[in-house]
Amino acid sequence: IMSGFCYSCLVGLVLVLGLDLRAEMTLSSKRIRMILGFMAFNVIGCIFLRLSLSTHNSPQKIQIPTRFWQKPSLSGTFWNQQQQRLDFIHNPNFNTILASPSELPDWVQRQIADYNLLPKHFQDFLLYSDCTSYPMLINQPTICEDAPFLLLVVKTLVPHFERRQAIRETWGQVGVVANRTVTTVFLLGSAMPEDNHPNLTDLLKYEAEMHRDILQWDYRDTFFNLTLKDILFLDWYSSFCPNSQFVLKGDDDVFVNTPQIIEFLDRLLPHKIPDLFTGDVITNAGPHRDKKLKYFVPESYFVGSYPPYAGGGGVLYSGQVALKLQEVSKKVVIYPIDDVYTGMCLKKLGLVPEKHSGFRMFDIEAKYKDNPCIYRTLMIVHSRTPQQIKHIWRWIVHPELHCQ
Ligand SMILES: *[C@@H]1O[C@H](CO)[C@@H](O)[C@H](O)[C@H]1NC(C)=O
Ligand SMILES: *[C@@H]1O[C@H](CO)[C@@H](O)[C@H](O)[C@H]1NC(C)=O
Ligand SMILES: *[C@@H]1O[C@H](CO)[C@@H](O)[C@H](O)[C@H]1NC(C)=O
Repeated sequence: IMSGFCYSCLVGLVLVLGLDLRAEMTLSSKRIRMILGFMAFNVIGCIFLRLSLSTHNSPQKIQIPTRFWQKPSLSGTFWNQQQQRLDFIHNPNFNTILASPSELPDWVQRQIADYNLLPKHFQDFLLYSDCTSYPMLINQPTICEDAPFLLLVVKTLVPHFERRQAIRETWGQVGVVANRTVTTVFLLGSAMPEDNHPNLTDLLKYEAEMHRDILQWDYRDTFFNLTLKDILFLDWYSSFCPNSQFVLKGDDDVFVNTPQIIEFLDRLLPHKIPDLFTGDVITNAGPHRDKKLKYFVPESYFVGSYPPYAGGGGVLYSGQVALKLQEVSKKVVIYPIDDVYTGMCLKKLGLVPEKHSGFRMFDIEAKYKDNPCIYRTLMIVHSRTPQQIKHIWRWIVHPELHCQ
């Protein structure tokens, strides 16, 4: 823009000079000197402008990572330090210099001062937080051969046979729904004897052979390993189902109005799809510091507030977002609470989860719970028993029920 302006300035000046010449034929030498001086000033100004612009905008410009030349202001907490370490490794200016994390400066210290005072499940989480890859025990490698429009992904535990069956018979029915192909998979880890689970290995094997919708990995399935389940799923997704258009991920105790979800997706504007991530979004939250709470996270592990995140009971995103999440998950330090972790990954991607009023992770008002028409407009409700799920599903598909 600036150089164009400069050239037009010059052309204008030449024209003025030309007109002057024609009009008067002769010019006083004083006047010529004045015009020449003005032109010279203009040319120098243009050159200066171009130079200063090119040093600002040129694509070849070398980014000087001022952040890392300065002494980094170090966080004293584990997660925050680890994230600084990962940011360091993945900094495009450094990854050629630093071949491996072991070459990192010693300002990265892996110390948790109060480790021995932490609850056992948090210690377990810490000990294994570096390991995010486990072998699969049961896979369905061809389940997405015909790329589904909507992939329904259900987080469940080995003993929850009844919940899975209710889902298969209702909102998780595979095949064509509302003229769109739907596929369902269940995500499981292992039910360990140390958590006092009975051995249901053979029953699960039978279920997997019968329904071909079970994905199981060889890790201990606990609350604080839910983020691990999420990461393992994203890795699986990018290998075995990367062409599905949308993903709905939910718990096994939610009711999902699948036809309503498909209608929502059908109406979605095309430009919304690449960044689609929607659910019951929670903002301005932070870690719980009460040791007795399920969600407790110690100060020595994480400080700061949480980015906006969608409650993990049910979220809807596009296949493109799933692939982006899979990639960025390698650059975000694991966090024991899975929905918060997904929020952190979205933040790293520069995405913001969008709140949708049809996602009811904290249920609906008690007086509406038995109103069939309410469920026709909702997308997801938490929580419902298998019997309630079957009951509500009949309301959804009931052809004689007319709602305004
Ligand atoms: C069903 O979907 C296909 C493409 O997936 C489309 O061509 C067709 O028009 C749809 N039919 C109806 C009745 O919406
Ligand atoms: C559970 O049962 C299966 C077969 O019945 C057996 O192979 C497996 O070792 C058992 N697992 C444990 C942890 O005992
Ligand atoms: C997560 O899974 C790993 C692998 O099975 C296990 O060693 C670890 O204790 C689990 N973490 C939690 C918090 O249960």
